[in-house]
Amino acid sequence: MKKFAKVLGIILGAVVLIILIGAATINFGGIPSYETNPPDLKVEPDSALIAEGKKLATLVCNHCHMAPSGKLEGQPMMDLPPEFGKAWIPNITHGPNSRLAQYTDGELAYFLRTGVKRDGKYAPPWMPKFPLLSDEDVHSIIAYLRSDAPELEPSDAVQPAPQPSFLVKLLCRVAFKPLPYPSEPISAPPITDKVAYGRYLVDGKVDCYSCHSADFKTVNILEPPKSEGYLGGGNLLISPEDGKTKIYTANITMDKETGIGNWTEEQFIQAVRFARHPDGKPLRQPMAPFSALSDEEASAIWAYLQTVPPIHNEVQRNR
Ligand code: HEC
Ligand code: HEC
Repeated sequence: MKKFAKVLGIILGAVVLIILIGAATINFGGIPSYETNPPDLKVEPDSALIAEGKKLATLVCNHCHMAPSGKLEGQPMMDLPPEFGKAWIPNITHGPNSRLAQYTDGELAYFLRTGVKRDGKYAPPWMPKFPLLSDEDVHSIIAYLRSDAPELEPSDAVQPAPQPSFLVKLLCRVAFKPLPYPSEPISAPPITDKVAYGRYLVDGKVDCYSCHSADFKTVNILEPPKSEGYLGGGNLLISPEDGKTKIYTANITMDKETGIGNWTEEQFIQAVRFARHPDGKPLRQPMAPFSALSDEEASAIWAYLQTVPPIHNEVQRNR
């Protein structure tokens, strides 16, 4: 019996040691690196492409990268759930030590699509990935980032490097992996094909689905409709205004009791473009007023939402 206890003790000790070594490897190893394989790309900017890129950046990049000064010089990420650690959004303006200047156009496209930075490090989910964005939209963002727009003028603000929690480091080894760089060209559907275009906005371009599905940890980036609770809301976010207030995302499926099935199209357009709720109270951040979307684009989203299976999910709104 004594011998048995001793053997058991040794086995248990070995298991604990292996777990500890594994945990230490993850903790001190940090975020994993990957080999990069950027495409050979040179974007030819013209004023129309830059204007398109600016609109897109206003919709999907600048609410994070733009500091209160109005420049893309970065800031602390106030609304990061504490379980993910701490992150600062980097300065991406032009300048002598600009991160952006070190990137080739191909490396930028590769980073935006796969999440792998030019140094090979994977960017955890605090920087979104855009695998479904059309090639033209990716090119427009690159043209804009290279432009002389005032918000990109050199700033020497330095943001600290992110401090990922153990959970993020662990998830970046087992769950969050770089996305494959697309092997075929990607084009957006024409806006006249309302439902398809609306879907492109929700899933590919403006990423409505990632906030409005059940949880960031269970979104399916390559096939958004397969995300848990797709568009059914309930994802717990933190107000970027005070870094504390908990705000659950709304159910934006057409369920009549718990979603927006009783709204009119006009009410929806007002909510999306100007963050106005039909009850008269403003929608709270991080729901941004997407005023850079046209009525026609918001209407396409509405058309697409009519085709999404309604989810019955009563979200605790505390409004
Ligand atoms: C939710 C906030 C958020 C949004 C939206 C966002 N970013 Fe970022 N971005 C970050 C954070 C955080 C990092 C730092 C990532 C890291 O180093 O782990 C980052 C890093 C970067 C970098 C620097 C990469 C490097 O090598 O250090 C660039 C360039 C960039 N983002 C461009 C963009 C563009 C272009 C968009 C829009 C298409 C965008 N970001 C949207 C938060 C955001
Ligand atoms: C950064 C996360 C985020 C993104 C991206 C986002 N939303 Fe929201 N949205 C929210 C939050 C949080 C609320 C709840 C705000 C509140 O309770 O005041 C909300 C509320 C709404 C509402 C109000 C519904 C209701 O019942 O009150 C609509 C409609 C909506 N979003 C549509 C969209 C659409 C369409 C997009 C894409 C164009 C989008 N959202 C992108 C976070 C987001």
